[in-house]
Amino acid sequence: MDNSKEKFASILMATKRRGVETVLAGLEELGFYNAPASTRFHGSEPGGLLKHVLTVYDEALAIREVQLRLKPEIEAQLPPDSVAIAALLHDVCKAEVYKEVEKFRKDANGQWEKYKAYGVDYSSFPLGHGEKSVIRLLRWGLEMTDDEIMAIRWHMSAFDLAFQSPEIKGCHGAASDKCPLLAGLKAADGLASHIMGM
Ligand SMILES: [Fe+2]
Ligand SMILES: [Fe+2]
Repeated sequence: MDNSKEKFASILMATKRRGVETVLAGLEELGFYNAPASTRFHGSEPGGLLKHVLTVYDEALAIREVQLRLKPEIEAQLPPDSVAIAALLHDVCKAEVYKEVEKFRKDANGQWEKYKAYGVDYSSFPLGHGEKSVIRLLRWGLEMTDDEIMAIRWHMSAFDLAFQSPEIKGCHGAASDKCPLLAGLKAADGLASHIMGM
């Protein structure tokens, strides 16, 4: 039997952060554990989001080793607990966004057929992406470091920044310069979604 949910909970509980139990209960209520990671790109299946964040966690730990080999003096900025919080919780914003819908497509004989797919519905708490994850986590009372907040807030940078103001772009640049946790999370998220399809 798949123990992804237990693994997710036990890694987070091991951080001993204030608020973790409330986060786990809140995620259950929102449907996080059965949610897909996207509509039709990576992890577009029930439980895909949970698999995605666990993959990002594994990759972020491996990337942390590379980061420390390149620059040992940043070890204090990359505690394993922060990697866990950032990687496992960066996409909590997606928990209730993807809804099952019926769509139509042509089958092998050119006949229209119904099939189940995921659509997007942002209406329950429309706040954006990384910023929504951070706000949800803080509201649940999770104790977070500044670096964890920056990493989660800015993890989508390239996708979020195209039409943003100079101030937003400046904040993203400053966070990228001072927060190695952000660089690691972005790389791990990219590997999981674009290289591994998870
Ligand atoms: Fe994301
Ligand atoms: Fe992600």
